[in-house]
Amino acid sequence: MNSMKAQLMALALILIFTLRCNGGITSSFTRKPHPSIDMPFGSDVFKAPPGFNAPQQVHITQGDYEGKSVIVSWVTPKKTGSNLVLYGKANDKHKLISALAKVTTYKYYNYTSGFIHHCTLNDLEYNTKYFYKIGSEDSSRQFSFITPPEVGPDVPYTFGLIGDLGQTYDSNQTLEHYHSNPKGQAVLFIGDLSYADHYPLHDNRRWDSWGRFTERSAAYQTWIWCAGNHEMDFAPEIGETRLFKPYMHRYPVPYKASGSTSPLWYAIKRASTHIIVLSSYSAFGTYTPQYEWLQTELTKVDRTKTPWLIVIVHSPLYNTNNYHYMEGEGMRVMFESWFVENKVDIVLSGHVHSYERMERVSNIAYNISNKKCTPVKSEDAPVYLNLGDGGNIEGLAAEYIQPQPSYSAFRESSFGHGTLEIKNRTHAFYSWHRNDDGVRTVADSVWFYNRYHRPSE
Ligand SMILES: [Fe+2]
Repeated sequence: MNSMKAQLMALALILIFTLRCNGGITSSFTRKPHPSIDMPFGSDVFKAPPGFNAPQQVHITQGDYEGKSVIVSWVTPKKTGSNLVLYGKANDKHKLISALAKVTTYKYYNYTSGFIHHCTLNDLEYNTKYFYKIGSEDSSRQFSFITPPEVGPDVPYTFGLIGDLGQTYDSNQTLEHYHSNPKGQAVLFIGDLSYADHYPLHDNRRWDSWGRFTERSAAYQTWIWCAGNHEMDFAPEIGETRLFKPYMHRYPVPYKASGSTSPLWYAIKRASTHIIVLSSYSAFGTYTPQYEWLQTELTKVDRTKTPWLIVIVHSPLYNTNNYHYMEGEGMRVMFESWFVENKVDIVLSGHVHSYERMERVSNIAYNISNKKCTPVKSEDAPVYLNLGDGGNIEGLAAEYIQPQPSYSAFRESSFGHGTLEIKNRTHAFYSWHRNDDGVRTVADSVWFYNRYHRPSE
């Protein structure tokens, strides 16, 4: 009996060792089964504000390269209304400044948008709370935001990380969990916003409802935008062939400030970070505008001023899920060597509807003919994070490649969001919050050490 026990123990140890050798952790967490369905239009989270033609779908984003400017956007449903933003410092309510918004509309098949306003507030002071007021008289609305601290190497700053959000009950949980975290100062949004294209004729009313749904966070703190495949809205069967039409009308970004020629790829600096946003769904081959721009932008990164170099791109360069597997391979072939050479700290991706964190690996030695096709650990390589887990109508991607490849550190098929707490030039605390526990539970966390200032872990 004792020898049998010993044999069983030895077998268990071998099994544990084998699982560890294969790679990281595949979480055993089992999600409660419930369907991924959109909240109905009548839901309170989609409710339009009271008052005739009241501004709705309010959101803000960074308006320049270094964080001294904010773009305020909103929609008035019935008529243009006031295009003024009145704003001022919270501690000086009597001194209000006004700025004028530009107004645009668009048609998408049988849908006509409301009046979409975009207003850039310039020359703001760093690290300052501002109030802003939009709309006319009895239907005017007031919001506030805090500008980021001046760009500098040891400036602490906390980002929320959200991808593939959609507008289901799960999406609502994700947003609520993030919103209830007082630490989050700005959101890095990893693409796939409304999933309006899931509906017949790409029902653009779902773009409007998504704008109202996210307002409770996006009107008060900057969301940095990145486009995913669900922003393309390409529907030649109904004559809609202009890519990214609703997205680009609704979500402006400061692309010209970084010398980009398209809102789909651009860069900003914020606090101690240099953030590069790329487009998986625009040309990125050699000589293309995106390729040329990225090459130039990487030369502008100064790690003594912005130690943290973060790339956001919707389709992952690494993941171990069967869903969308290798869709990001083209961009990996083109840009991975630049990421490694430039010691990018983190590459944020979504698209795959689950959560995964990679080891620091590089596959840049591989050139098709040399057979070196296995990613190897590299201290120069970024950590790739897959956060396509916002909770959209398409549901979870639950089938993983087995056994877990060695480059995968942690994976779990659940909805949630991430937070990145940058402490100083060397340390950042990263955590992933699973939705299903009913509270903002941390299911995966790790300290990231800066690749430039503290390259060994
Ligand atoms: Fe996607």
